[in-house]
Amino acid sequence: MSLFRGNNGPRFKHVVDEGAPYDAITVEKLTPVIGAEIGGVDLSRPLGNQAMAEIHRALAENLVIFFRDQEMSPEQHLGFGRSFGDLHIHPAAPSAPGMPEMMIIHTDEKSPRANGEGWHSDVSCDTEPPMGSILYIKTCPPMGGDTLFASMYAAYEALSDRMKIYLEGLTAIHDGEGYRGQYANFGVEDKESYPRAEHPVIRTHPVTAKKALYVNRGFTRRIAGISADESDGILRYLYDHAENPLFQCRFRWRANSVAFWDNRCVQHRAMWDYWPHTRSGFRVTVKGDRPV
Ligand code: SIN
Repeated sequence: MSLFRGNNGPRFKHVVDEGAPYDAITVEKLTPVIGAEIGGVDLSRPLGNQAMAEIHRALAENLVIFFRDQEMSPEQHLGFGRSFGDLHIHPAAPSAPGMPEMMIIHTDEKSPRANGEGWHSDVSCDTEPPMGSILYIKTCPPMGGDTLFASMYAAYEALSDRMKIYLEGLTAIHDGEGYRGQYANFGVEDKESYPRAEHPVIRTHPVTAKKALYVNRGFTRRIAGISADESDGILRYLYDHAENPLFQCRFRWRANSVAFWDNRCVQHRAMWDYWPHTRSGFRVTVKGDRPV
């Protein structure tokens, strides 16, 4: 992992943009770089225009937002997701009966694997990858099971100017073949093929207009138009760089917490350190646009 050590102050100098105050919700930052806990919101009830506008802004400013002590029915969870856009159906993962947009997140003593154990941006193999994911955890292990989130704006900003120039205009192949066999324990049969897409290595966020690094270990297979060995070397460097803890926050779940992250500028990784305990909930995912 890159250390960023030097004798001239931090190489990555992040200044928090104070922004306008919030009136309808409270926003408590977890770190200066990423993550905030939102208060004053009951997600089981229709939210007023001002609260919705402020939640949109809190997501744009903090990249991932968290809500505690929420009691939502599946319909309310879907409804909250729909207030941000059409819902995405996962190409491989199991869903709640009769609710294809309600992805099951469940790991217990017998699970062969857990969801999201490596750094990734959700379903980046789709031509139009999801804009955001809203995870509602109902059952928590006594300890552990945290999720780590990393800002890909910060990862981009901390690259050298020379590396930024090198990466500009490059595209990379993202492949969903890794889903094959992954959900057999839920009784899910494999599809003939899984999504595959080519996306810019540096994407521009459609809301904030900021640039973000958009390659991840989970789905990105290679950078197009350069040799395989060069692609391997560059991707290895970018993954190590993007996983620097300077760009991260770590969320400790409690039962009935919700995390809402923006896949366009965030990668995440779930910790499976709680075996043999159970961690369980549902994810509603909001569709996104083609990255540019
Ligand atoms: C995921 O959506 O990748 C799973 C994240 C988690 O379970 O914390």
